[in-house]
Amino acid sequence: MKILVTGGTGFIGSHTVVELLETGHDVVIVDNLSNSNACVLNRIFEITGKNVEFYNIDIRNYDDMNEVFKNHVFDCCIHFAGLKAVGESVLNPILYYDNNVVGTLNLLKIMNKYNCKNIIFSSSATVYGVPEKMPITEDCKIGKGTNPYGYTKIMIEQILSDLYKSNNRWNIVLLRYFNPVGAHKSSKIGENPNGIPNNLMPYITQVAVGKRECLNIFGNDYETPDGTCVRDYIHVVDLARGHVCALKNIVENKGLNIYNLGTGNGCSVLDVVKTFEKATGIKIPYKFAPRREGDVTINYADATKAKQELGWVAENNLEDMCLDSWNWQKNNPNGYE
Ligand code: NAD
Ligand code: UFG
Repeated sequence: MKILVTGGTGFIGSHTVVELLETGHDVVIVDNLSNSNACVLNRIFEITGKNVEFYNIDIRNYDDMNEVFKNHVFDCCIHFAGLKAVGESVLNPILYYDNNVVGTLNLLKIMNKYNCKNIIFSSSATVYGVPEKMPITEDCKIGKGTNPYGYTKIMIEQILSDLYKSNNRWNIVLLRYFNPVGAHKSSKIGENPNGIPNNLMPYITQVAVGKRECLNIFGNDYETPDGTCVRDYIHVVDLARGHVCALKNIVENKGLNIYNLGTGNGCSVLDVVKTFEKATGIKIPYKFAPRREGDVTINYADATKAKQELGWVAENNLEDMCLDSWNWQKNNPNGYE
């Protein structure tokens, strides 16, 4: 199939592009490089031996997007392009609603115009808010967003659902990711945050490589076995494979479908630190800090639906995730620079 990948030079997008190429799909990437680097394209070539057509454009630009659709006939769009920093979204909500929501609306207008009606969207476990039960199944209620970033995911899910209701020739898959970490085994692509990392795993790898002194663990008084928050960490390559499975499914199982992509295992912040130390032999100095606003106590997936309907299961364990994150950081201490 010929696939448009928006945000394809980003963390999850680049890993998905590799899996798509390796399973024989043709890929065109659209990305404005606002949070990624064009070097990723060379790295993708080094891994797969395949060149990908790339457009350095913003999905909000109708004319530029129109040119892309004039030049190609797509079977499906996998839509990753979006801004994702929770704190930044609180400081600059207009930017987040414009980039993520307006950007998606523009993409949908063009897809509709060119009759490309298959879309896989990068949603997030954040849509469950404070989850009504654990593990979280897809039929759990959509919660209250805790920040503008979360609301953009809730709004886009709503837009896509309404679109499907209006015309059931659309085939839509909403993939709700849990906590993506890890990197490709080749260490050629990985997560490349700007500035101080917001997320746990890149912070740990930057402590390990000597860029930061000490990890702050946000809260040790939660109602969990060791007092730190519990999350469902998932290897980015497993996540990427989930998109290839969803793609196969979108043409067979038509309609609007929602899947959690997680391992189903809840791990605490201290579990991650200890597993990282065991996998790499590197000690991570840490100290306990106050709770971070907006963090939910426990969040992990019931991923049974993805297994049953997509034939997908996560294969890598937490040790693999830590080791691959570390190998990426060690071999690319300054990311793609
Ligand atoms: P990322 O920032 O590495 O990748 C996103 C890519 O989109 C970047 O390359 C960026 O340059 C591009 N982009 C942003 N706005 C654009 C625009 N207007 N036009 C064109 N390109 C644009 O992030 P990621 O971790 O790979 O996340 C991919 C998607 O998955 C995002 O939608 C994110 O919200 C979602 N998601 C991520 C996580 C996570 O923890 N990483 C969790 C749940 C959902
Ligand atoms: N944490 C620390 N210290 C740090 C960074 C994180 O203790 O320096 C803790 C957090 O408090 C949390 C856990 O590590 O308990 C995981 O935090 P992350 O920031 O790595 O991930 P989140 O679960 O907060 O957020 C992720 C994605 C969001 C998405 C959300 C959905 O990054 O995009 O999951 O649940 F919205």
